Amino acid sequence: MDNRAIGVFDSGLGGLTAMRKLVEAMPNEDIIYLGDNGRVPYGGRSRETVIRYAREDTDFLLRHNIKAVVVACGTVSTVALDTVSSECPVPVFGVVEPTAWKAARVSRSGRIGIIGTKRSVASGAYDRAILRFRPEAQLFSKACPLFVPLVEEGRVRRGDTVIETVVREYLAELRDARIDTLLLGCTHYPLLSEVISDYMGGDVRLISAGEETAEYLIKKLRETDALASPDKRGSTNFYVTDNAEGFERLASFFMGSDISGRVKITSLEQEKQP
Ligand code: DGL
Repeated sequence: MDNRAIGVFDSGLGGLTAMRKLVEAMPNEDIIYLGDNGRVPYGGRSRETVIRYAREDTDFLLRHNIKAVVVACGTVSTVALDTVSSECPVPVFGVVEPTAWKAARVSRSGRIGIIGTKRSVASGAYDRAILRFRPEAQLFSKACPLFVPLVEEGRVRRGDTVIETVVREYLAELRDARIDTLLLGCTHYPLLSEVISDYMGGDVRLISAGEETAEYLIKKLRETDALASPDKRGSTNFYVTDNAEGFERLASFFMGSDISGRVKITSLEQEKQP
């Protein structure tokens, strides 16, 4: 048993797709969420910058007595996971392996689409992981850089012509490629599931990086006897690096519960002793 908290971070709202799953499945756990929305999006930045941001995000969570770090960001997971894991004193869980494993397992035809940020797609990390699990798979990948800013603006709903146009523009070639599984390799993208599914068709299975990683973490905590006490009531704490009010409004919608007044701003720097 381990009553320390779980730390989860992303560049913004996307990691909530993992957070929601964790809160629903593990009501006894304390979970700390960091959304670095002052610097979102990460996906078009250089590898060096993503690594620096990832170190700062991890260091912030480590100051909160945590037992694990969930890198609920595809971009950090594809380019900085080794660095973060090698420097971190607690286990680190990235999104690539669990998501790739699930996509490889559920695809019937082996024709799998991968979408993510520019940095994630360029890294080829999802492709390598899927091919390890399923060597004969045929992969079709596409970077979708406008999805993250649109999600951060709350432009996610069916009937919003802006997001529907962008979805069509990015996903046309994947639809033509007759994939049967689409790996949503950026944790923001499941927040667009409705619009993406409308366009791709109900037969295409969408795999959420956030949800798969949350499930994997739960399994690992159980296997290593590191779950919190069943008698304990869990808590959630949210931190952002900018615009707490805007985050609260959208996060309440995405989490399916009201978190008004519960989001704190941090500069990520170590709090000064009084
Ligand atoms: N949720 C992040 C990811 O999974 C978004 C990256 C970004 O900020 O561009 O890649």
